[in-house]
Amino acid sequence: MKHVHFFPLLLCLLTTNSAFAIDAVYEGDNGIRATVFESNCLACHSSELSGSSRNGAPSNVNFDSYDSAQDKGDRAIARAVNQMSMPPVFSGIPSLTQEQKDAMLAWQEAGFPQFADTEINATFDFSTLILDLPVVIVGNDKFSVTLNLFELPGSAFGFGFALQGAAPTSADSDKAATFAFDTGIVDIPEVELLNSGLANNKVSLQIQLIPGSSLQFDLITLQFMD
Ligand code: HEC
Repeated sequence: MKHVHFFPLLLCLLTTNSAFAIDAVYEGDNGIRATVFESNCLACHSSELSGSSRNGAPSNVNFDSYDSAQDKGDRAIARAVNQMSMPPVFSGIPSLTQEQKDAMLAWQEAGFPQFADTEINATFDFSTLILDLPVVIVGNDKFSVTLNLFELPGSAFGFGFALQGAAPTSADSDKAATFAFDTGIVDIPEVELLNSGLANNKVSLQIQLIPGSSLQFDLITLQFMD
């Protein structure tokens, strides 16, 4: 009857797993939007709904976009976690489980982040030759930036990066890149290498604006990290 002993172990694994099933961030398959708002709130609190299909939910209280959800984050927790008066009893939609409540509180505690840290890492993809920098701090602004690798004969490493796209972002990363106006250097503390024999390796990079170029950068420092 040896197999009996596996049950407590299995149970233990299952419960341990479920404690981490919800990520305390808005986005992602296991994020708060998908595991709490979608199942328990969006039937009424969605910007897609209007008039009577909102079932009385105020038109300015929506959880289907990050900005509106984080704006009303404290109220969502007051009503759905503390008072447990949301969803309303009349709806038949279940109150939050303990796991959902814990995740909401952890999300609040963390300052209502939109993304998991792992989703906002800088990456370089060897198959596309694109350097993706989700957060670049430029003075008081933050941008998400993509750059293309190109050959730059005569430079230190023989390669440079050309700006491909940039858009303002509200994401935060503790591994954000920074651009210094005085030197033209973008300091990138950590870049994950994708789709190469070097997978799982990380490098730190510095690239420097080539004066007079149309936003092309010379790769000036490359260091492998462990
Ligand atoms: C069946 C529709 C319905 C669902 C589902 C629902 N709500 Fe509501 N919600 C309402 C109605 C109606 C009101 C306005 C009356 C009230 O405040 O009690 C409201 C108001 C609110 C308010 C604004 C009032 C305040 O106290 O700031 C918040 C925040 C809120 N709901 C959060 C949530 C959250 C979070 C969920 C999911 C966990 C949720 N609601 C699910 C119908 C719903």
